[in-house]
Amino acid sequence: MPVQEPNTRKPAVIVISGGTDGMGRALALARAERGDRVVALGSNPAKGRHLIDEADRIGVADRVRFLQADLSSVAATRQAIRQIGARHEAIDALCLFANRQSPKRATTPEGLERTFALYYLSRYLLSHGLSPQLRRSRAPVIVNVAGVGMTKGAVSWGDLQLERKYSTIGAQLQAGRANDLLGVAYAAQPHNPIRYVLYHPGFTKSGDLSPLPTAARLFIRAAAKVAARPVEQSIAPVHGFIDSPPPVPLVAIDRGTSLPLTLRTLDPADAERLAEATRALLDTIPPAPGAE
Ligand SMILES: NC(=O)c1ccc[n+]([C@@H]2O[C@H](COP(=O)([O-])OP(=O)(O)OC[C@H]3O[C@@H](n4cnc5c(N)ncnc54)[C@H](OP(=O)(O)O)[C@@H]3O)[C@@H](O)[C@H]2O)c1
Repeated sequence: MPVQEPNTRKPAVIVISGGTDGMGRALALARAERGDRVVALGSNPAKGRHLIDEADRIGVADRVRFLQADLSSVAATRQAIRQIGARHEAIDALCLFANRQSPKRATTPEGLERTFALYYLSRYLLSHGLSPQLRRSRAPVIVNVAGVGMTKGAVSWGDLQLERKYSTIGAQLQAGRANDLLGVAYAAQPHNPIRYVLYHPGFTKSGDLSPLPTAARLFIRAAAKVAARPVEQSIAPVHGFIDSPPPVPLVAIDRGTSLPLTLRTLDPADAERLAEATRALLDTIPPAPGAE
């Protein structure tokens, strides 16, 4: 009989925004099955309960925690960061999946355009807010799952909140390009051991289409049947990013292809400009009383 090598891999602590559905949920369960401890963030408590039920069914409920947070709210995201930090001294991987389409321009109670707040700003806050815990890991990594490599869309510099011109796709593309720039600015910080992976999973058999009009839902479902990739295939590279973070501060991967960091959507000057605009915006949303 072959002698089995003992499994000496240390369990990792993994925080997943949007860990209750689609690709984030699949990653949460798969990492727990591999022995890691997972914190899954989502806004819908019923989805959180279903995640825990499924974790229970496969025997890993002790390794999965659901944390309810509306990540379109700066205050709620900051609170989630505090809650995670209070419980976890060190975090090995932060995986960012949370997103939802807004067919009409909607604003959050803090006055921000919802897609910008959820898809971009929550990722900015989590990336920077959990940096102290990530720095305590031996091999920390942030995986931002969005649309790197797409050159469509742009940051609307004079109108970040899309007050003058709004479309569902335009808002998604702006936040996608903003996430590209978030990775560039984050990785450029001096003395930063945390690796940043911008990852485009490609068209995948996931995604909550419920906010969309019926015709768009039917069209996307039909297209997904023939062209979308299974969730497990799309998240497969993410396991690799977590288990062996890249040796350089930033990588941009579109499915299996490594992209050049010279892409115009990864321009360092634009990245610094957006980081400055984001800091200025967040200064207008002070911490809730008693939060610090
Ligand atoms: N699916 C594709 O074809 C595709 C292609 C390219 C890129 N991507 C990108 O990949 C990422 C994951 O996509 P997916 O298809 O796995 O998405 P999904 O199935 O729709 O899952 C989205 C996740 O985000 C969470 N979420 C949504 N609104 C939230 C809020 N306000 N606060 C907290 N959590 C919230 C959802 O949980 P709750 O409902 O509980 O809030 C859910 O866990 C997204 O960034 C997407 O843009 C997807």
